[in-house]
Amino acid sequence: MKRTHYCGELTKAQLGETVVLEGWVNRRRDLGGLIFLDLRDREGLVQAVVDPASPAFGEAERVRGEYVVRLRGRVRARPAEQVNPRLRTGEVEVAVEALEVLAEARTPPFAVDAGWRGEADPEVNEELRLKYRYLDLRRKAMMDRLRLRHRVEKAIWDALDAEGFYYVETPDLTKSTPEGARDFLVPSRLEPGKFFALPQSPQLFKQMLMVAGVDRYFQLARCFRDEDLRKDRQPEFTQLDLEMSFVEPEDLYALNERLLARVFREALGVEIPTPFPRLPYREAMERYGSDKPDVRFGLEIQAADALFTDGGFRAFAEVLKAGGTVRALVAPAALSRKQIGVLEEEAKRHGAKGLAWARVEEGGPAGGIAKFLPPEAAERLGARPGETLLFVADRWQTALEALGAVRLRLAELLGIERKGWAFLWVVDFPLLEWDDEAKGWTYMHHPFTMPHPEDLALLDTDPGRVRALAYDLVLNGVEIGGGSIRIHRMDLQKRMFQVLGIGEEEAQAKFGFFLEALTYGAPPHGGIAWGLDRLLALMTDSPSIREVIPFPKNKAGRDPLTGAPSPVAEAQLRELGIRVVE
Ligand code: AMO
Ligand code: AMP
Repeated sequence: MKRTHYCGELTKAQLGETVVLEGWVNRRRDLGGLIFLDLRDREGLVQAVVDPASPAFGEAERVRGEYVVRLRGRVRARPAEQVNPRLRTGEVEVAVEALEVLAEARTPPFAVDAGWRGEADPEVNEELRLKYRYLDLRRKAMMDRLRLRHRVEKAIWDALDAEGFYYVETPDLTKSTPEGARDFLVPSRLEPGKFFALPQSPQLFKQMLMVAGVDRYFQLARCFRDEDLRKDRQPEFTQLDLEMSFVEPEDLYALNERLLARVFREALGVEIPTPFPRLPYREAMERYGSDKPDVRFGLEIQAADALFTDGGFRAFAEVLKAGGTVRALVAPAALSRKQIGVLEEEAKRHGAKGLAWARVEEGGPAGGIAKFLPPEAAERLGARPGETLLFVADRWQTALEALGAVRLRLAELLGIERKGWAFLWVVDFPLLEWDDEAKGWTYMHHPFTMPHPEDLALLDTDPGRVRALAYDLVLNGVEIGGGSIRIHRMDLQKRMFQVLGIGEEEAQAKFGFFLEALTYGAPPHGGIAWGLDRLLALMTDSPSIREVIPFPKNKAGRDPLTGAPSPVAEAQLRELGIRVVE
């Protein structure tokens, strides 16, 4: 007996055929002497019926859920009243003639069968799901995600191959790369006291591939970053990483738009409009309080400094005097004190000192800080009676980021609809940001990012105003990618290190090998990396990237399945020249 079909494939097209199926028993039911076996494989399930007269009946009696079986039978139409429109195979069943148990199975710690019948899976604790991930992946929803991941990766491969890209693998045992997170280190046995770093990205290798003349490179690259975990961050994640020579930002925008359009078409059957809108960083911050705005709804932030220049409200007057700003958001509802409390917490979590408010009534502002507001305040902010004014006064960045977070929370509170696919490019990022602790300029992306050619003169005079040739790809309020044009000439790279306060010696020790590569004729080049897991989480409407990673770490960065990380034998440590200190 050799398998002839996948269970989930059988339809009326196979009526009357004898088929051999192999798979798992999704459920067994005994009804009026007949035994019904729902047999399942990754493509779906089909109903098999064992008649008491069938030679398979004895074996069918001992079969339980999740047993692995092989069966042979004839495909026949189900009686009209038994047709199940929720299943692709719902019009047929298999009359079993032979049945073989290939493996028995213990009862799984949670049910995996419901989704295959077209029902909702029960809610299961995530720790348990991760401990038994191989069972969790048996569920239909998870198999669908694995399949989509495969389709997306296939579409990427096909599209980039057609665009002339080479797939090149870069090393996992390497030296620290400059993405700004903490490294995972791997001790060297052959050279005790020395360490490899796992790559935070293939950044320097892909640039050296451009120096080599590869011209167009891509990789589905595993990246490792030892940083605090969140729902959209894993210590180990996958990038679609790519790099191109002799290009400008326009070339990269167009290529990525073509690529995403093809991925959405082939994996989801969705047509996404291109080109994507572009939003300069400053404008994204001013309007949405975020460098990765969700533009599927309005609720834009407004400047409100002019409402407070009379100094009546002391807290705000002091912020303005110190060079800060007041920004406002109009909530399209009469918010309750409790709702305002929730929003204030959100503002404070993002660095604001508070969240001032006032209700808009027919006669003018009321409640909260209304007595400090001019009567025409609501009108100037475009607010109508029944709405609520919200204010934050602080440094530019803090005020906007806090209101940006309030804006998102508000959309949640008010149940504002967010549907569809809102792609956009955030462009014109500042090259540098001021680091208060180190009292110096630091890079916003990485130290190899090309300054905007129009701003080169500002590098020495006003570094904070230099724009970078860097861009982020944003989808529905999530940063799904980031990249830049790189510096390809040593003279400019040296100047960058000067501005960043990175000394000659430090630069040599950290990336001397790479700087040397730049001296042998590097072409102008640039690229991008997508956070593939984040993109897939959005495409599958998943609450976390853990849902689209086959074997992820949990929220604490551990793997409940294997128990990693785990202690190692004393002998192994000795070999590595390592002693664990408590
Ligand atoms: P960047 O650091 O912006 O750029 O990373 C690119 C994209 O990777 C995703 N990402 C993550 N996804 C899951 N878990 C994480 N911990 C995590 N960290 C980042 C994000 C991000 O947009 N070498 C550059 C790219 C380049 O310049 O070409 C880089 O790594 O979606
Ligand atoms: P106070 O006068 O300090 O009691 O503040 C009155 C209201 O203004 C309170 O709701 C505070 O949360 C709010 N508030 C104070 N400072 C700020 C600020 N810098 N930004 C936003 N709201 C503030």
